[in-house]
Amino acid sequence: MSVASEVLRLKEARGALLLAHNYQRPEVQDIADFVGDSLYLSRKAREADAPVIVFAGVRFMAETAKILNPTKTVLLPDLKAGCGLADSITADQLRSWKAAHPGAVVVSYINTSAEVKAESDYCCTSSNAVRVVQGIPSDVEILFLPDMFLGEWVRRRTGRSNMHLWAGDCPVHAKLRPEDLRKARAAHPGAMVIAHPECGCGSQALPEVDRILSTDGMIRYAEETRAAETLVATEVGILHRMRQINPNARFLPLSEGAICPYMKEIDLEDLRTSLAEDRYRIEVPAPIAAKALVGLERMIAS
Ligand code: 13P
Ligand code: SF4
Repeated sequence: MSVASEVLRLKEARGALLLAHNYQRPEVQDIADFVGDSLYLSRKAREADAPVIVFAGVRFMAETAKILNPTKTVLLPDLKAGCGLADSITADQLRSWKAAHPGAVVVSYINTSAEVKAESDYCCTSSNAVRVVQGIPSDVEILFLPDMFLGEWVRRRTGRSNMHLWAGDCPVHAKLRPEDLRKARAAHPGAMVIAHPECGCGSQALPEVDRILSTDGMIRYAEETRAAETLVATEVGILHRMRQINPNARFLPLSEGAICPYMKEIDLEDLRTSLAEDRYRIEVPAPIAAKALVGLERMIAS
């Protein structure tokens, strides 16, 4: 029996739900119940009836699932699946930042630890960051964290000047520079360019980018586009589904090297072990979970 079939058999036996992020390995995406971006997967986790949720993604996503649906067993098959961006701010650092800006509200990107979420008023993802910020009265100061490129893009879209940005970035997206974009554009003059808002290139070379989109925004783009060729500025894992959805169009990575090592930690063997041996169970201490839930509920509602 193939490893994929074993995973499916174990999943069935345990009544488990397998959620996979758009950056996961193709063979993991292919056997998942749902594949999507952070917001979509959070909603799927929250409404799940299954006793077990296996998260093929990174740790902050599994923690979010546990906070949103605490009675379920949430498994992250490899604990090395972290996030360089989430590591760029600790709860202590956030407490100090808040102390320096009394009266400000905190908007945290979902790419943060549960402890940081517990210190936040709102959570958002790249899909709804603009909507979340627009929902906050315009005279209220905002601390936005941890991604400065996403924050800069939200600031431009909302025209908000009273928004302070934490100087964090994603080690994968920050490497995509405006020079890469210009080079790729020159090599593919007729191509459309779409970019994730975490990209270093997107916020600094905005006129060169046709659309700034979350990963699910990119999937919808793939469904609808009539462009023959599109350059995609984000983690390369997204290309698998885009090409499946629209095999007649060409989707090219802005950089072949845009690979998130954290998102590639989980493979089929890890999924098999996870389901067979119940590992690794993600737990969030109740007081942290209760506080983090406030911002997460606002994120789900936006
Ligand atoms: P999305 O919410 O767009 O899927 O992004 C998550 C992420 O980790 C991007 O690097
Ligand atoms: Fe984190 Fe960047 Fe990987 Fe997304 S791509 S999980 S932000 S390190």
